[in-house]
Amino acid sequence: MRVFVTGATGRIGLPLVEALRAQGHDVLGLARSDVGEAALCERGAAPIRGDLNDAEALRRGAEGAEWVFHLAGGVRGPGRVTPDVLNRQGTEAMLAACRGVPELRAFVLASSGAVYGDRSNLWVEEDFEPSPNTRYGRSKADAEALVRQATAEGALPGVIARLAAVYGPGFPFAMAEPIAEGRCWLPGEGRNHVPTVHVTDCVNGLIRLAEAGQPGEAYHIADRSQPTLGAFFEAVAARVGGTPPRFWSTYVPSYVQLALARQVERAASRLGLRPRLTPDALKLWTASVRLRTERLDKELGFEWAWPDHQEGIAASFPTSA
Ligand SMILES: NC(=O)c1ccc[n+]([C@@H]2O[C@H](COP(=O)([O-])OP(=O)(O)OC[C@H]3O[C@@H](n4cnc5c(N)ncnc54)[C@H](OP(=O)(O)O)[C@@H]3O)[C@@H](O)[C@H]2O)c1
Repeated sequence: MRVFVTGATGRIGLPLVEALRAQGHDVLGLARSDVGEAALCERGAAPIRGDLNDAEALRRGAEGAEWVFHLAGGVRGPGRVTPDVLNRQGTEAMLAACRGVPELRAFVLASSGAVYGDRSNLWVEEDFEPSPNTRYGRSKADAEALVRQATAEGALPGVIARLAAVYGPGFPFAMAEPIAEGRCWLPGEGRNHVPTVHVTDCVNGLIRLAEAGQPGEAYHIADRSQPTLGAFFEAVAARVGGTPPRFWSTYVPSYVQLALARQVERAASRLGLRPRLTPDALKLWTASVRLRTERLDKELGFEWAWPDHQEGIAASFPTSA
């Protein structure tokens, strides 16, 4: 089967490409650099050089594709590449390239649990109304709406993957290195729930959605266990050694954190850099919500490789011993 992947050179994209190749698919991946092209060739995929502003490259990728995975995006780009530019406008460009491709059987959008905003530890199902509290969450909710609209118009079969925070070897979210070195500080107090998912389950879940997801529907892809952030990182520390994260909010009032983050984002944006500390980043680390995964389990018969974060963490990181 011919498959086109945007964001193919990213942390989720590369293992997705590997999994698709292992299933025998012909994979085309969007690449913005020589390094990205080389990474795709190494994995047996064909690179298509271009970015989300390059309509011709997107059209070439989409032509004849039976599955499309739209992963290109993120919390923020460098300079003036806001979440809206990256996620809403990027998805609009991809939809334009994929509309009316006769072979297309599934267009899978990588969205995020951030569409729910802060729900005070509530367990949410996929039919809960999005209420994002970040620009990132808003841009993903807007991208989802575009995919639903294109699906309702019969232009393509869009399926929405609401991903939890992904961890695994090489994923910065797990903070394995800073924890091992005893230098990990995070906003909040660690009592909130941030849903997580191991990269293997994330990739297999995306493929399952392409195989069997209902057009126009959203699905959570998350671990079955959803501990507090503090408990998640204690499990990482128990595995890699070092010190679990200490939390700033005990020492720095949140209005000071937000003011500082606004200044950092403004300065980085002017310099064309990608800021790490932003108001969105603070809110994403401190929001609390839990994602029900019954739909993936019961409707699509998904089998988790690592349903529990403890097992996923053990599989991801070598022991300190
Ligand atoms: N990782 C998570 O925890 C998580 C959670 C929820 C949702 N998601 C979503 O899942 C998707 C993939 O995440 P990830 O963690 O794999 O991100 P990542 O490692 O940052 O990779 C982002 C990918 O998008 C590409 N990209 C960025 N801007 C682009 C543009 N303007 N044109 C074309 N390509 C562009 C990057 O290309 P280069 O390699 O050239 O930079 C890279 O391939 C994103 O949409 C993200 O919002 C991720």
